[in-house]
Amino acid sequence: MTETVSPAVAAPEPGSQDVVYRHKLTTRVTHWINAVCFTLLLMSGLQILNAHPALYWGEFGADGDRAFIEFFASRDGDELVGHTRVGPLTVTTTGLFGVSNGSDGDVRAIAMPSWATLPSFRDLATGRRWHFFFAWVFVINGLIYVGASLINGHLRRDLLPKRDEIKPRHILQDIWNHMRLKLPKGEEAKHYNVLQKGAYLGVTVLMLLMVLTGLTMSPGFNAVVPGLLDLFGGRQSARTIHFICAFLTVAFIVVHLAMVLLAGPINEIRSMITGRYVVPPEDKS
Ligand code: HEM
Repeated sequence: MTETVSPAVAAPEPGSQDVVYRHKLTTRVTHWINAVCFTLLLMSGLQILNAHPALYWGEFGADGDRAFIEFFASRDGDELVGHTRVGPLTVTTTGLFGVSNGSDGDVRAIAMPSWATLPSFRDLATGRRWHFFFAWVFVINGLIYVGASLINGHLRRDLLPKRDEIKPRHILQDIWNHMRLKLPKGEEAKHYNVLQKGAYLGVTVLMLLMVLTGLTMSPGFNAVVPGLLDLFGGRQSARTIHFICAFLTVAFIVVHLAMVLLAGPINEIRSMITGRYVVPPEDKS
């Protein structure tokens, strides 16, 4: 019999490990396909951004509208200086955004560094091919994950917070526990905590927004479903929301990986590969 994060509970023998079956096969396979797709989509997306590293709101860009997010370079004597501007705030980001070393080691004026783009050198056409191919793999994989989670009860049982968990007191307690790096042990560790559920549901919504705004940028898709352009207020707004969602997903991944490291990377990653998870024992004290 298989179960996910709500495991069958037979009390472990004293001294033995409490092992539960934590993740179903569909969750595990779609998770890793998603991780590969997201990495390739992000890197090829940054290659596409390099072609015009400025983001606008509304219908039009470039033709006179001032961008509200922009990556650019300026000269200070012989030196190239990189800048990132968000609204009225401009910060120097030489070495990362605006100016960085190319794959040959030379300093150059380019929005995103070569190590972060696919391909690593400037090639918009190849970047778009990678992006559009993996976008469809990502969509199909996402549909399988959401469909399977609805059918096998994963969404309802493991991801949607229970009524008690959304009480402010419970959420504040969870935030406090995370701030003290007091991670769940024993029975509590057998289920996602409310912050985990919120983060996983949140990132799923971000993925959906990313797909919808991506489709909004496609003239071919606009011809079939024109309503999306109205929904996002124009192609430039859709492009900006697409970029912000990608940025927020990167923020999620940084925290996600930090939590995996803190919770015990071998046990955590093994559970996402084999499904089996060793429940951390309760503290004796
Ligand atoms: C190499 C990178 C990654 C590693 C090592 C990793 C690791 C893990 C692990 C160990 C879990 C299970 C956590 C637990 O059982 O408490 C998990 C769950 C999850 N991860 Fe990742 N992850 C990675 C990348 C990503 C990416 C790129 C995304 C999405 C953008 C993502 C989204 C999720 C979600 C939504 C879940 C919950 C899945 C479910 O139960 O339905 N992960 N990840």
